Amino acid sequence: MSRSAHPAGPRHADVLPEGGHYVAPPTDLNVLDPRVWPQTATRTSTGSVSVGGLDVKDLAEEFGTPLYVLDEADFRARCRAWRDAFGDDADVFYAGKAFLSRAVVRWLTEEGLNLDVCSGGELSIALAAGMPPERIALHGNNKSSAEIEQAVGAGVGRIVLDSFQEIARVAHIADRLGRRQPVQIRVTVGVEAHTHEFIATAHEDQKFGLALAGDTSSRSSGDRGHPEAPGGPAAEAVRRVLKLDSLELVGIHSHIGSQIFDTSGFEVAAHRVVGLLTDIRDEHGVELPEIDLGGGLGIAYTPEDDPSEPHEIAVSLRKIVERECRGAGLSVPRLSVEPGRAVIGPSACTVYETGTVKELPGLRTYVSVDGGMSDNVRTALYDAEYTVSLVSRSSEASPMLSRVVGKHCESGDIVVRDAFLPDDLAPGDLLAVPATGAYCRSMASNYNHALRPPVVAVRDGEARVIVRRETEEDLLRLDVG
Ligand SMILES: Cc1ncc(COP(=O)(O)O)c(C=O)c1O
Repeated sequence: MSRSAHPAGPRHADVLPEGGHYVAPPTDLNVLDPRVWPQTATRTSTGSVSVGGLDVKDLAEEFGTPLYVLDEADFRARCRAWRDAFGDDADVFYAGKAFLSRAVVRWLTEEGLNLDVCSGGELSIALAAGMPPERIALHGNNKSSAEIEQAVGAGVGRIVLDSFQEIARVAHIADRLGRRQPVQIRVTVGVEAHTHEFIATAHEDQKFGLALAGDTSSRSSGDRGHPEAPGGPAAEAVRRVLKLDSLELVGIHSHIGSQIFDTSGFEVAAHRVVGLLTDIRDEHGVELPEIDLGGGLGIAYTPEDDPSEPHEIAVSLRKIVERECRGAGLSVPRLSVEPGRAVIGPSACTVYETGTVKELPGLRTYVSVDGGMSDNVRTALYDAEYTVSLVSRSSEASPMLSRVVGKHCESGDIVVRDAFLPDDLAPGDLLAVPATGAYCRSMASNYNHALRPPVVAVRDGEARVIVRRETEEDLLRLDVG
């Protein structure tokens, strides 16, 4: 897309507002940009789009719309790219919150990735699909005793501790079950990733983790602090964990945010985490064997996004950790990362049917589809940007500045805020939004008693429902009154 300054604003349907500039419409609306579409997506000879060797028109007819179409080959290729980039002396934990199902767990297991879960529900899916428990990490800022018991009892490879209360809780449960539970401590390093305020998680005023900075004595007392000890809450958490026989402290964990495109935030985070590892060695005489730098690696939601490849990220993170550790005279710990969206985000698209096309003269055209914020809340929640294409046919019609909206009773129910679609778009046409593999089905809701759409995996011309569509019966079964 070419950009040009357009001081008069978006009066015409041929300019798209973007950060004070306006982006000209693409010359060909039928092109599927490989940066945002699953790897097997292509236009068929009749003009429609196929994914995994299957025409989306046929998929829509068989499975209905809205429909998440997940390209299994694309997903597996991304798993392998992450696995190969980090190699055998590092671990890649796929962040299951992005999207989790039994099929996905089986693919992850086969492709050599580990799994990060953050609830009893995610843990149950992982165990039911046969992920070896030692390859699972349990996260969460308020794990219930039942969730901790489920995880310790199953023998998960690590629990990431998030508070002083949780240290005591996990230790007590592990003790009762006669286990020595490997744990990491999640720290907040004071880095605010360059991303949306609500998904930046490592700055200090937030609910996750224990701060590296500060003095515990000035912040809290009793169960929440330790008045006479130096260092911040993270250092105090280390002291407590090291005193408990039922916990084995294996490492320090940091997650600085999401949709991050450069490694400078990770550089600061690694520097600070290594500072803590050095303090631990000096105070306790132990060198912890693991460091986890979390997830948050960005993907292309629009062609303007320019994410790095897994091997570039791996090289960069390794270099950072090695440099920091050597500088501190520490042996280099085993590195792990937790990408979620960067593994599954680009592997799926959501197919919708157009219901109405409403032109607001001089403004834009509102295109209503049969889903919305119930199947993709990210636009409403984070102002997320997406692209959209007509996929049931090609069109040579002129570009029309459009807003794709859902069918819910909210004016913020927007799927794609600004997009160009052909101006011959009509009810019945199928649209697809690419890069919806992460945080769409997993954050889907029943708002307006919408029925959450199915996820259909496609590969080599075969389609398989891996999560079925909800039915009104499902809704009525929950409504027991
Ligand atoms: C601890 C942790 N790890 C990994 C992730 C995955 O982030 P992303 O999907 O952006 O890679 C998250 C997301 O919130 C997280 O909180």
